[in-house]
Formats: sequence, C-alpha cells, structure tokens
Amino acid sequence: MAAVTFCRVTGARAMSRPQITSVATCLPIVLQQRKVHHAVIPHGKPGRSAVSGVVATVFGASGFLGRYVVNRLGRIGSQVIIPYRCDPYDIMYLRPMGDLGQLIFMDWDSKDKDTIRKALQNSNVVINLIGKEWETKNFSYEDVFVNIPRDLALLAREAGVEKFIHMSHLNADLKSPSKYLRNKAVGEDAVREAFPDAIIMKPSEIYGREDRFFNHYANMRWFGGVPLIAFGKKSVKQPVYVVDVAKAILNAIHDPESKGKTYALVGPNRYLLHDLVEYIFAVTHRPFVPYPIPRPLYRLISRFFEINPFEPWTTRDKVDRFHTTDKKFPDLPGLEDLGIVPTSVEQKGIEVLRRHRRYRWLEADLDEAKPANTVNH
Ligand SMILES: NC(=O)c1ccc[n+]([C@@H]2O[C@H](COP(=O)([O-])OP(=O)(O)OC[C@H]3O[C@@H](n4cnc5c(N)ncnc54)[C@H](OP(=O)(O)O)[C@@H]3O)[C@@H](O)[C@H]2O)c1
Repeated sequence: MAAVTFCRVTGARAMSRPQITSVATCLPIVLQQRKVHHAVIPHGKPGRSAVSGVVATVFGASGFLGRYVVNRLGRIGSQVIIPYRCDPYDIMYLRPMGDLGQLIFMDWDSKDKDTIRKALQNSNVVINLIGKEWETKNFSYEDVFVNIPRDLALLAREAGVEKFIHMSHLNADLKSPSKYLRNKAVGEDAVREAFPDAIIMKPSEIYGREDRFFNHYANMRWFGGVPLIAFGKKSVKQPVYVVDVAKAILNAIHDPESKGKTYALVGPNRYLLHDLVEYIFAVTHRPFVPYPIPRPLYRLISRFFEINPFEPWTTRDKVDRFHTTDKKFPDLPGLEDLGIVPTSVEQKGIEVLRRHRRYRWLEADLDEAKPANTVNH
C-alpha cells in the first residue's frame, strides 16, 4: 500500500531520473496493463522539452535577429508562433529550434489585421523584429517602421498581451539624415502610444554571422578598396553582438521590472569607423585600402545599386546610417541592467569574419590581428 501511495504522489510531479527508475520498478504493481514511456514524463534540467510558460509571437522571425531569438525561446521550452510571408522552405532552419509541436508557423500579411489577430491571440509575449534595409514598391520605411509596429502594438494590447517588445535603433532620431532612422524614431512614439507598457530595445549596428555590417565591409574587398566618408574618422561606432541582443530580449521577458522601459543595447567599446573596418580586414587577412569619398559621390554610386532589380548591395540610406556616430544614452538601462556582460568585437568578430579569409589563413590565430583602438567620444 505504501508503495502504491508513493507511486501516485511522485507521478504527479516532475521527477528526477532516480525517481523515474524507482517508479518504473513499482509501475508493474500499480498499473499492470499501462505502458508509460519515460520520455513523456518531464524530467532533467529545463530545456527544449520543458515548459517555460512563455507563449511568444515573433514577427520578423525569418530575419537575421529572428533566428537567435527563436532559438533562445525554444531552448527554454517556450511555445513560439512564427508568422511568415516567405516560402515555408526558407524558414525550415527554424524548425529544430523548438521541441516537437512547440513552434507554430503561420502565414500572415501585415496589411491583413485578421491574420495579425490570429497570430497573437494565444500569446502572452509579442516581439516585433520587422525591418527592411531598403524601401520597396509595396512597403515604405513608414509602413515597416511605423504603421506595422503601431498595428501590432494596438492589436497586442487589444488581445491582452502581457509584454510587447519592439526593436528600434540606437540612432533613431527625427533629425537624422537617414530616412530609416527618422521613421524608427516615429515608430518608437507610435508604439509607446499604442502600448504604453511596451519594451523598446535600441540596439546599435548588430554583428553576427548573418549580419549586414561586418559582412558588408568584409565584402568590399571585391572592389579593391573601401570607400569611407572622411576616411571614416568622423564616425564612431559601438557595435553589439547578436547573441547579446537575443539574450536581452529573453531577459526582458522574464524581468518584471522591464515593462514600459527603453533599453539602449551597445557593445562594450567605441571605435572610429576607420579603425573598426581596419580591424575587420586585419582579421580576414586581406589588404585594407581605404579611400576618402565625398558624401554626394558615395550617395550617387549607391543610387545605382538601388535601381538594380535585385537586392541592393548598398543604398543612400545605408551610407548615411553607417556614417552616423552612435549615440550615448547614459540614462537608459542597457545590457548590464538585464544581467548581460556585453561581448567585445575582439571576442566574437572572428565568428563572422573567418569565412572571408583565404584558405591558407583559415586557421590562423586571432592574435595576429592587432585589436582596434577604442575611443571615448
Ligand atoms: N541588424 C541590425 O544591425 C539592426 C540594428 C538595429 C536595429 N535593428 C532592427 O532590429 C529588427 C530586426 O533586424 P534584422 O536585422 O533581424 O532584420 P532583417 O534581417 O531585415 O529581418 C526583418 C524581418 O522583417 C520581415 N519583414 C520585413 N518587411 C516586412 C513586411 N512588409 N511584412 C512582413 N514582414 C516583413 C522580414 O521578412 P522576410 O524575410 O519575409 O523579408 C524579416 O523576417 C529590425 O526592426 C531592425 O530595424 C537591426
């Protein structure tokens, strides 16, 4: 009888392996005909098979940052709803990031509010990672950075979503020369108005394997030199590592104090754009040949890239954005306030840049590249 009571009580809770073994030994006595596979009983450390209680809709999951966020959500055992507009085969790589049945993919159209409602109706967290580096005939920057985020925030509030996380940009500013950054600033206000408790993340340029910052400069080797406005000596950048940004999003979900806050997410060091690009070339073991280019000429060349029918390699807006000095926000909370130690470019840059090396340098030590000088302004 004691054995029976023990089995019933223990079976109701999450069990450790020794407990499962002891239950397994007494199971034949209690449930003679029932075969329970131990895999269906929660056990072990929290992981993809655990239940975190987070049900998150991630808009823009098919993008660069999206894969890191979905992976982080999946590995704590969250249910993730992934609205997508691309071919389902294009996002196959997301599937192993969650336990069976925990990632739910659904077609959506940002202009159809019913599909948005459907995507977030069962979620307690909504993350907006929608973004585009250039305007298209269907979607302007205003659509992508203001109208869509406003709709998502309004509908999330209507659905009773607990946490709405919106990705903005560190240099979002109504006075910026970049239209992208001007619209990001308007988008922040629109989201705040629609969902006052929204969590707004303002990352600087993000680097990681699939980025469009380090890879952009590393690819410039094909042009024989790197065009930089004023040699890149007037622009200061403080890039942030993609995993740190993904961790920040996850920690903000769990932090009860995060509601309604705006976070500035930056790396630990500031560099002159010139020094940063020089470091990129040093790590890739490629000759660095910078040349100064006047802004109007650089914009004119970018215009040619914009009118080509394929994905533009650069745009006038990107030129302005990359040559904008990263702002400092001493009053805003940052990565440290979310319990994250910012990763330096010297630690993780190699992950992005190794593939740009020639075969003979593929395994070369990182020590051979002199770290970039840091600045304080
Ligand atoms: N990457 C950076 O360095 C950086 C820095 C600061 C802030 N941010 C911001 O962080 C967010 C995520 O950045 P990311 O680099 O991951 O962006 P990304 O790689 O360009 O991905 C953007 C996502 O938005 C989706 N999307 C774009 N336009 C859409 C539309 N009209 N309707 C539906 N979906 C649309 C894309 O879907 P498709 O795949 O179908 O196009 C993709 O999933 C963006 O808001 C970005 O502005 C990025």
